[in-house]
Amino acid sequence: MRNTIGKSITLTLYGESHGSSIGAVLDGFAAGIRVDEDFVRHQLSLRRPAGDISTTRVESDPFVIESGVFGGFTTGTPICIRIPNSDTSSIDYEPRAARPGHADFAAFCKYHGFEDYRGGGHFSGRLTAAIVAAGAIVLAALAQKGVYVSTHIAEIAGVKDRAFADYQEDIAILKDMSFPVLDRAQGEKMKEKIRSAKAESDSVGGILESVVLGLPVGVGEPAFDSLESSIAHALFSIPAVKGVEFGNGFALAAMRGSESNDAMYNENGTVKLKSGHMGGIFGGISVGAPITVRTAVKPTPTIAREQQTVSLPSLENTTLAAKGRHDPCIVHRAAVVADSMIALTVADLLVLQNGTDWMKA
Ligand SMILES: Cc1cc2nc3c(=O)[nH]c(=O)nc-3n(C[C@H](O)[C@H](O)[C@H](O)COP(=O)(O)O)c2cc1C
Repeated sequence: MRNTIGKSITLTLYGESHGSSIGAVLDGFAAGIRVDEDFVRHQLSLRRPAGDISTTRVESDPFVIESGVFGGFTTGTPICIRIPNSDTSSIDYEPRAARPGHADFAAFCKYHGFEDYRGGGHFSGRLTAAIVAAGAIVLAALAQKGVYVSTHIAEIAGVKDRAFADYQEDIAILKDMSFPVLDRAQGEKMKEKIRSAKAESDSVGGILESVVLGLPVGVGEPAFDSLESSIAHALFSIPAVKGVEFGNGFALAAMRGSESNDAMYNENGTVKLKSGHMGGIFGGISVGAPITVRTAVKPTPTIAREQQTVSLPSLENTTLAAKGRHDPCIVHRAAVVADSMIALTVADLLVLQNGTDWMKA
């Protein structure tokens, strides 16, 4: 059982939703990279629940960087970030019944009943706060190298945002948004869908669309560590993610080659693409164009509406109308988590190719 992702730059997560703390260990970083704690705080604020469209669990995420940073710069040793838990309500998880769509039953079988099930334990979306804290350090380091990652909500409950147009301008629009949409009016309609699902003791899902800008040509290894398989691995590690596609993804299946191929041309010595149907990846390797990836996020599994399930540990048939505080929609809160996991993957592949000190050069 491993809880670590990455080869050159690795991320390990620890903790449980209702334990004393959660956290991340980020390893493989070069020494001498500036760490701005205000930026970490800012990124955490983008994931934090807010208003009537999110859970009422309040977490201020007062993180502590325990190691690996000295005088505002990385030291080259493992960076351990700890985030204490505070606003927990474990009573909501008794008596035990497996929440349909959540990890309760699978974890019970895999860990033989020894798992800390309170609030979903290690499987809680709460752990993504640690991903975001570590991701902030990676995103800032990548930005220094001219590589930017950004995500908007492409769709919630069938309501669509406008597509990316000018990547640089759109990234600037999304930078500080905790509900990152390019068309605010569409964003309000999405929020209405979330509110009405919540009023009906239900939940909704949606799609995130991310872009990586500034990635040089040649990133990604053929086959097993291809750019696509590496980013997909990272995105599927986010709880509630059930689909990942690059460029036009599944829609490519209905296109002809003459439509789907990205025509190429040489502009002053640089090879460019006329379109982005392949998401900027040929043969698992970046071609110097924007990387585009869409991530499907399922409706929140825990809902107050009664559903059929089994009790734990007895496995007797029962019903559950979940108590506890839950997000009626996860999509908007997962956007900054997607940015973080994509950044981690891209940084890992860049360092694998160019060596540890490339990051600070
Ligand atoms: C930011 C974030 C917040 C989440 N909040 C909740 C929640 O309040 N209630 C819930 O049931 N699931 C929530 N989830 C999703 C569960 O953690 C996830 O569905 C569960 O661990 C099962 O994993 P799977 O959906 O990948 O199969 C959240 C996920 C993320 C990324």
